[in-house]
Amino acid sequence: MLKLVVNQAVFNQTLVSKIPEWQDAQYLIAPPKISLEQCSSQITAEYKASKVNGNIGLDMTGGLGVDSYFFSKKFKNFFHNEINLNLSKIVKYNFEKLGIENVKFGIIKAEQYDFSGPIDFIYLDPARRDNANRKMVGLKDCLPNLLDIKEKLLLNAEIVMVKYSPMLDIKDSLSLLRHVNEVIVLAEKNEVKELVFILKKDLESDPIINCINLGSGQSEFCFRYSEENELNIAFKDPQGFLYEPNATIMKAGGFKSVSTGFNINKIASNSHLYSSEVCILDFPGRVFEIEVICDFDKKNIKKLLETDKANVAVRNFPYSPDEIKKQLGLKDGGDKYIFFTENQKKKKMVLICNKIQNT
Ligand SMILES: C[S@@+](CC[C@H](N)C(=O)[O-])C[C@H]1O[C@@H](n2cnc3c(N)ncnc32)[C@H](O)[C@@H]1O
Repeated sequence: MLKLVVNQAVFNQTLVSKIPEWQDAQYLIAPPKISLEQCSSQITAEYKASKVNGNIGLDMTGGLGVDSYFFSKKFKNFFHNEINLNLSKIVKYNFEKLGIENVKFGIIKAEQYDFSGPIDFIYLDPARRDNANRKMVGLKDCLPNLLDIKEKLLLNAEIVMVKYSPMLDIKDSLSLLRHVNEVIVLAEKNEVKELVFILKKDLESDPIINCINLGSGQSEFCFRYSEENELNIAFKDPQGFLYEPNATIMKAGGFKSVSTGFNINKIASNSHLYSSEVCILDFPGRVFEIEVICDFDKKNIKKLLETDKANVAVRNFPYSPDEIKKQLGLKDGGDKYIFFTENQKKKKMVLICNKIQNT
């Protein structure tokens, strides 16, 4: 009994931050702990729902129903399918309380799903736990394994969208899935939460890669791997302003595309830091004004810094932030940001900066 009460309290509390649209609904039933942990957040679910619409949509791995709830607003009829009968009953009850009327519920194993006719959209968020409740990351370890049912799904739906762990390698996944039209690297406040792949019937070898940092106010950044591979960029020592791409671009690997896209110069091939003479404010990442550029000379750095508090960042540099802080007697915090890096000729450089824009 106590366990149930605690579970319900945790659920109610989690809704406030993760699914705020549900927080004021009366008497929603808490799902098992694992379903709450695995569900999408409102902000990511809403973004995915913004990409689709139509007559009939299906969520094959409905779970707690967060994704289904937001997708259902974009379709005339929507189906929530979930292999776990108890969970399906809870979601059906909760959707009634939430006033959702266009969703029907099924409890069919995705691999055995029979389609009575073509539909517009299928969504999957495969389970990433094995029978012993251990976390799995590999695309083929997820349940259901999309590779086993992909052809059938693409025969029956215009669009198949699948959500995977941000740990997955994007290029490996593309070569396994083969029909991917668009990849969305989806972050919430600079933490990559989901990799979303949109598949269509035709084979596609060069999908668009969409880097989206929700809750940041930053614009999205798109590129293709074909363009990224073709680009030849020049490396340049830092000038006036410093740029650090957000986590979605880092995850996607759009390192050369971001340089040409924003007309900023990469400092060195391995640093993933960029600079420009004029400040570019709509950059999707952190932006700093460089106050001083100096050599890696401890005495000089301490003199120039005039404080014992700073935010130390290391990119492509032989020492760790802790080693540097110890050597310079620095504490975390304050307004100054110091980047320790090497230029393309492997010269050590120290950039003392003021932050202009966060991720
Ligand atoms: C990650 S959760 C889905 C969460 C959901 N997107 C949400 O936002 O609440 C995956 C769900 O897939 C279900 N599942 C696992 N294997 C399945 C299968 N073969 N067919 C249908 N559902 C399955 C699990 O029971 C689990 O509830």
